[in-house]
Amino acid sequence: MSGSPPPRKPALRVAIVGAGVVGLSIALELRSRGADVAVYDRGIELGGGVSIRAAGMLGAAFEWAAEHDKRALAALARHAGQLWPDHAARLERLGGGPVEYSREGALVVARTAGEVEWIASLTAACQARSFSALTLPLKDLAVREPALAPDLLGGLWLADDQQVDPVLVLQRLGAALARTGVGLRFGRQVDRITAGQHFLMPDGEHYDRVVIANGAQPAPVFVGPRGARLSLGLPAPVPVKGQILAIAPIEQGPRHVIHTRDVYIAPKSRWILVGATTERNRADTEVDRDAIAQLRARAAALVPALADAPELTAWAGVRPGSPDDQPLIGQTAIPGVFAALGHYRNGVLFAPATAEIVADQVIDGKVSPLAAAFDPTRFDNPDAAPHSPSVKGSDN
Ligand code: GLY
Repeated sequence: MSGSPPPRKPALRVAIVGAGVVGLSIALELRSRGADVAVYDRGIELGGGVSIRAAGMLGAAFEWAAEHDKRALAALARHAGQLWPDHAARLERLGGGPVEYSREGALVVARTAGEVEWIASLTAACQARSFSALTLPLKDLAVREPALAPDLLGGLWLADDQQVDPVLVLQRLGAALARTGVGLRFGRQVDRITAGQHFLMPDGEHYDRVVIANGAQPAPVFVGPRGARLSLGLPAPVPVKGQILAIAPIEQGPRHVIHTRDVYIAPKSRWILVGATTERNRADTEVDRDAIAQLRARAAALVPALADAPELTAWAGVRPGSPDDQPLIGQTAIPGVFAALGHYRNGVLFAPATAEIVADQVIDGKVSPLAAAFDPTRFDNPDAAPHSPSVKGSDN
């Protein structure tokens, strides 16, 4: 029997709150799967919260291999790291320019006997979780990274760790989204959303689904059609301030990301980033010159040429932490509203994995096993005790 084809289903309309690297990556993924997407942000630039202030290290092994109580997080980090080569190529293709993606790996170095022991335990942890970790004899360390100080006591090469320039990532995401027809609604504070048959935004637009990806900002308030407040079941974000120093690129500068226990160095073509402080429950972006001087001194102890290289600028960002320092990814207590929050130190790394997980859930209702441990409603009494570390039960 012939006849006209069945009418096409209208595209799912999705609003994303937050134009950071996580929100923008989710927008790109949803759009590529046919959704009609708009991104709202209270600011006026892409990634103007913390993303543009990030160091862009994709440090799956360094950050998570040794966190023994965070098995699920290490698995998510590994998966995200594996997505990055293709993700970077996609951003460059759709966004029309480079993201300075590097697969050089990261070096971890020791200056003290205590740090030598720490490197040994990091090596064992990486090996236990199948991250590549190669102990480097000192002469090989010097060959791999000639900028390093001659008096270091040990080195490790994490071949799986990668890096990008987060500023370029944001630019490419913005271009890719504009090109694929995603609405970018800047300067729009979304503090109240009405949930009914659809979700009504303050600008009068309706959506079928909402994704909250606004980092360390409080989530919007959701109300029912008669104005009663609805609970998302989310804890308040935990702000964790981080200060970073940007040093001018220099001829004798490092080529790799270099970590030790209390500082990292992330060389980009525009500058060499040295970070970062970790100041829990601090949401201000004041720069403290003593903290910056301390970062510089620690970096110079690893790479002597950084002692006198000109400082370009310094800044502070507010990482979006959570009560257990793990992300919140998935459906909230309000059906149709999803969280992509709490990415803490690793928003840039996790972004493509979170985008994939959220898109699977928003479009197909599929909950990835990778996200099971990051149920955003896992906290007890989220509204009553927003900063409590109490967790309902974790398979992590
Ligand atoms: N990812 C490095 C930092 O948060 O400082």
